[in-house]
Amino acid sequence: MENSQLSLVLLKPDAMNLSLSGYIFSQLSEFHTGLCFAGLKVVKVTDMLAGEHYAEHKGKSFFPSLLQYIKGELHYTDADKRRVIAIVYKGEDAVAKIRALCGPTNPIKARDEKPGCIRSLGAVVPIKDAEGNVIGDRMDNLIHASANTDDAEREIKLWFKPNELPPAMRAIYPTKTATTFYYYDNGKLTQESTKTAVCLVAPCDTVWASDLEALEAIASGKESKVTLESVAAKYMINEEK
Ligand code: RTP
Ligand code: MG
Repeated sequence: MENSQLSLVLLKPDAMNLSLSGYIFSQLSEFHTGLCFAGLKVVKVTDMLAGEHYAEHKGKSFFPSLLQYIKGELHYTDADKRRVIAIVYKGEDAVAKIRALCGPTNPIKARDEKPGCIRSLGAVVPIKDAEGNVIGDRMDNLIHASANTDDAEREIKLWFKPNELPPAMRAIYPTKTATTFYYYDNGKLTQESTKTAVCLVAPCDTVWASDLEALEAIASGKESKVTLESVAAKYMINEEK
């Protein structure tokens, strides 16, 4: 294929709550888009995963409510129901094709400019401070889609382990085989198991090459552009601790 790409889609908690998953899957189906499924899972979003996914918005006024939103706290009172569906699509111009079907970030703008797009079914909700003053808007826009191919790579590697995508589907992102154990323990990387440590990687595991390079750098005290949290978050998805 000329320009085969991967893209990460999240069906956000409002889409789940409104039972729009079937509609969105249909809009993005291979029949309509020519794109195919490369990976899919149901995820309870942790603080770590939410914070890493939306790291570029850290510090903005809507950041705290954005985290609450993606974690499902604003659409489900029952904590057990809080989840998103994470999907990887693959195919020609996957990133632009999916963004076009989503439409503008702001659902009001989406209705004005692109009636019929997925986000035209969303809502804009005022964000209030503790005194009840409106301090901004929250955009409940049903779906996340990677904005460009660099974001797609960062996001797919954040949400998925290599073996959750068939080898041919993930082939554009290099992998390596781990030769040692790495654990996450209270915000720190360790190579020794303790009662509180979560095992991220074990010998013989297939790991994103960039993740393994980050773990090796962090373990030896070197700088790493890839944060420990962005490596660790995917290994803690749907775990009890
Ligand atoms: P997404 O990452 O969720 O696919 O959305 P996007 O690329 O279209 O928009 P982005 O700028 O990345 O924003 C991420 C999410 O933050 C919320 N947002 N609120 N109040 C605001 O000004 C504002 N700007 C963005 C939206 O929920 C948006 O989807
Ligand atoms: Mg974005």
